[in-house]
Amino acid sequence: METVKMGFIGAGFIAKFHAIALQQMRGVDLVGVHALQGATELAAFAQDSGLGDCTIYPTVAELCKHCDVVAVLAPNFVRIEIVEQIVEAVKEGAELKGLICEKPLGRTVAEAKRLVALAKEAKLHTAYFENQIHMKAIKDALAQLAPQQKAMGPIALARSAEEHSGPHMGWFWDPTKQGGGVLSDMGCHSIAVSWYALTPIGKPVTFLEPVSISAETSLLKWGQPKYRQQLLDRMGVDYGKVPADDFCTGIVTYRNPESGQLVKGQFTNSWMYDKQGLRLLMDGLGPGYAFEVNSLKSPLEVFIGDEAADAAADAETALEKATASRGLLTVQPNEADLYGYVDEQADARDAFLAGKDALLNWEYGLEITKLCQAGYLSAERGQTIDLTDPAVQKELDGYTSLIAQGRGAEVLFK
Ligand SMILES: NC(=O)c1ccc[n+]([C@@H]2O[C@H](COP(=O)([O-])OP(=O)(O)OC[C@H]3O[C@@H](n4cnc5c(N)ncnc54)[C@H](O)[C@@H]3O)[C@@H](O)[C@H]2O)c1
Repeated sequence: METVKMGFIGAGFIAKFHAIALQQMRGVDLVGVHALQGATELAAFAQDSGLGDCTIYPTVAELCKHCDVVAVLAPNFVRIEIVEQIVEAVKEGAELKGLICEKPLGRTVAEAKRLVALAKEAKLHTAYFENQIHMKAIKDALAQLAPQQKAMGPIALARSAEEHSGPHMGWFWDPTKQGGGVLSDMGCHSIAVSWYALTPIGKPVTFLEPVSISAETSLLKWGQPKYRQQLLDRMGVDYGKVPADDFCTGIVTYRNPESGQLVKGQFTNSWMYDKQGLRLLMDGLGPGYAFEVNSLKSPLEVFIGDEAADAAADAETALEKATASRGLLTVQPNEADLYGYVDEQADARDAFLAGKDALLNWEYGLEITKLCQAGYLSAERGQTIDLTDPAVQKELDGYTSLIAQGRGAEVLFK
């Protein structure tokens, strides 16, 4: 098998997850990393686990010279400058086959469009990393139900939720850096999963046409005085001044362009899920058949009593964003695989080696950014947004949500 030489830009939380995913597949060597922080640890992990001879590069340009594929795994607010540097490196001779970007593609529609244009300018194949569509549980559910779908008709209602108790770094909480609150950060996952589950088997990922979106954004926990103070102390972000949504929900309506059937994808996301840790909950309802995925159900549970708990200070070994280290704990033994990181890496590898875009390319990422931003617009106006209206599409091109502008109080405190 031909091997892809991959380089990471960013060496934080998600880069570590991707390194663990790469351990579980063939055909990708992690040959380099460039990051402001964490590169030494990531390179050591890669070396120790046989992922490749991972070199730390001081610049994006140097990294690009030594890779076939670059994965942009840095924060949302540095996307454009990083991709501009990658495009510059390609112009100067770096021979890249493909370019990966983590979700969300852009903080605004304008940013996402700029990224799509940059990749086109450099003639690079792209992969938009939306891991949840690649979850084996989702793929298996749809494959298992394919005969029923063919016989009875497609899924008409899909619901998707991602919730945890809040992000691990201050920049996620700062809406001016991240691009909003939980709708921008995690709504992008849930909107994508529902759209995908609703899509009739065998049709392209953007086959169903988004017709309208209705959404709400709220600040339910982290705006309360006690938690506002905790957030300020822990993350340096003041939700009294620049609040963001810690809860969102909404419905996107899609139209099947062949049959005219309307179907609905509901999303719910929160940073106030004070249960065991990250929970992904998805279901799909078709005529006479259904599926349900709950990432907190595992064949493995451990029990740690109070006396034994004092010896176990590290709470995040059971689950991503785990909140407890005692009692009856759900443990997911292979989260990188469960959440879809292994399969999304394999999809990108195969696509780039074949000289094409991954299943989800940056144009697809742009569509997801549009839906998230239309969700913010809907919540601001208290109205359903008509996505088929050219005037709305034009407005979205220049739209930055009030929350992302740092004016969240105007929406969340009214
Ligand atoms: N798919 C998922 O489930 C998932 C989960 C977490 C994060 N993400 C996405 O991954 C991206 C990174 O998130 P994270 O949680 O790893 O963040 P993080 O803050 O944990 O890590 C960011 C890394 O990027 C580096 N960095 C920052 N600015 C840089 C710059 N200008 N040049 C080079 N490196 C720079 C930091 O030093 C750090 O190594 C975000 O876009 C986030 O939305 C996706």
